[in-house]
Amino acid sequence: MNKELVLILDFGGQYNQLIARRVRECNVYSEVVPYNISLEKIKEKAPKGIIFTGGPASVFGENAPKCAKGIFELGIPVLGICYGMQLMAYTLGGKVAHANTREYGETNVSIDNTSDLFNGFSTQNVFLMSHTDYVENVPEGFKKIASTPVCPNAAMVEPQKKLYGIQFHPEVNNSVNGTQVIRNFLYNICGCSGDWVMSSFVEDSIKTLKEKIGDKKALCALSGGVDSSVAAVLLSKAIGKNLTCIFVDHGLLRKNEGDEVEKIFTENYDLNFIRVDAKDRFLQKLAGVTDPERKRKIIGEEFIRVFEAEAKKIGTVDFLVQGTIYPDVIESGLGKSAVIKSHHNVGGLPDYVDFKEIVEPLRNLFKDEVRKTGLELGIPEELVYRQPFPGPGLAIRIIGDITEDKLNILKDADSIFREEIAKAGLHKSINQYFAVLTNLKSVGVMGDERTYDYTIALRAVETTDFMTGVWSKIPYSVLEKVSSRIVNEVKHVNRVVYDITSKPPATIEWE
Ligand code: XMP
Repeated sequence: MNKELVLILDFGGQYNQLIARRVRECNVYSEVVPYNISLEKIKEKAPKGIIFTGGPASVFGENAPKCAKGIFELGIPVLGICYGMQLMAYTLGGKVAHANTREYGETNVSIDNTSDLFNGFSTQNVFLMSHTDYVENVPEGFKKIASTPVCPNAAMVEPQKKLYGIQFHPEVNNSVNGTQVIRNFLYNICGCSGDWVMSSFVEDSIKTLKEKIGDKKALCALSGGVDSSVAAVLLSKAIGKNLTCIFVDHGLLRKNEGDEVEKIFTENYDLNFIRVDAKDRFLQKLAGVTDPERKRKIIGEEFIRVFEAEAKKIGTVDFLVQGTIYPDVIESGLGKSAVIKSHHNVGGLPDYVDFKEIVEPLRNLFKDEVRKTGLELGIPEELVYRQPFPGPGLAIRIIGDITEDKLNILKDADSIFREEIAKAGLHKSINQYFAVLTNLKSVGVMGDERTYDYTIALRAVETTDFMTGVWSKIPYSVLEKVSSRIVNEVKHVNRVVYDITSKPPATIEWE
């Protein structure tokens, strides 16, 4: 198992997970923990270094989050970022002051590049600043190693105890070479060697899972999405045929997708694969339902019922495999509690499946690490880099009620759109793209005939977090090809429109 650990103490800043990811990108394993973690716990975990995140509080605030006393005396290097730096200065007797104006944005920072934290940097660097308070006087024993015209102490160090503070945010892309500051801290100051690599994660996990599960039985609900697929393959490498994967095919997947999932898992891996063709059951339950939230609820519930029924046939199993990943379980310092991921974000844990314990092999991984693990395990790239697909599937891309005919129209139109996007080489730059079957029929003309048929809407967005996004400026020539192919090849579609709304105000999905 990897031995090096860096703890990220979470003071509530918006970039906390990003700091943890940057550390891991530098091949050092990191964990995000609440800011008030006890000294005993820290000692137990024996980290090579500690990073304090930023946060919205002011050290003068009544409820300002404070770290455990004595943390600076443990002999472990500490890097305080933004609020983390102010807290370090304040706690150790320096002076923190409240500025009248906020310093925000990409800022030219003069640095002392003889400091080991800034090894390899030139004396002028652009970093992102975002603060109101600042350190007016550094504590005794500290010296300043950076400044801006507005912020006299933009970075500080106490070389004996290896305590560092930086007022800027090295973790964001706006900070040029910001990751190098983190890398310097990890390698020059904490003495890390970088033992966090996905190949050893895979090897270690397989070994641990083998020891834990032995020749007992495990059950996994497979959706064909990245997380559950990677979890399943990892398990199969550890326990082979003692793993049974149940793939509930609700019939609302994209064209050929069910077959593709089945092919990947039955041809490449040693496991029991059960595909449940439940399309009719789902369509019956959804007949006449038009409200999007009702659709989601019905699909979520039905998914669990089908899974349970299949699991019952297998009988008692020892372990239930979940594709939970790190962002789902990070415990924030500010009171957010851990959550358990449901299979489709719409269901929940099955009530009646008889299992003794849950295994979550990806619990400590960020999404990009899950993808790397998938590639390490030999899962095809198309699956590893698949665009997000909602649990309720095409049901929320057919506006209004769902019928088998409508499903087939949408599958064909969507498949043409995806094919042309891939042909144009746009599939990596557009983060989500799909067709929607609107409930609108309009008049058209084909040959000498008047038609009265459906309108397909195309949706494509560019986003990193899926919380906000902009509509993608797909070249007209590509849109033209897609439109012409859809109306020519898909029966009952006579009009294609392109959605040019960003999120907000529109959501990515239409329902
Ligand atoms: P919206 O439409 O809210 O979508 O902008 C944001 C992201 O979430 C996905 N999405 C869902 N995923 N179950 C899911 O598993 C759902 O019910 C659901 N609704 C939306 C959507 O595809 C996009 O990636």
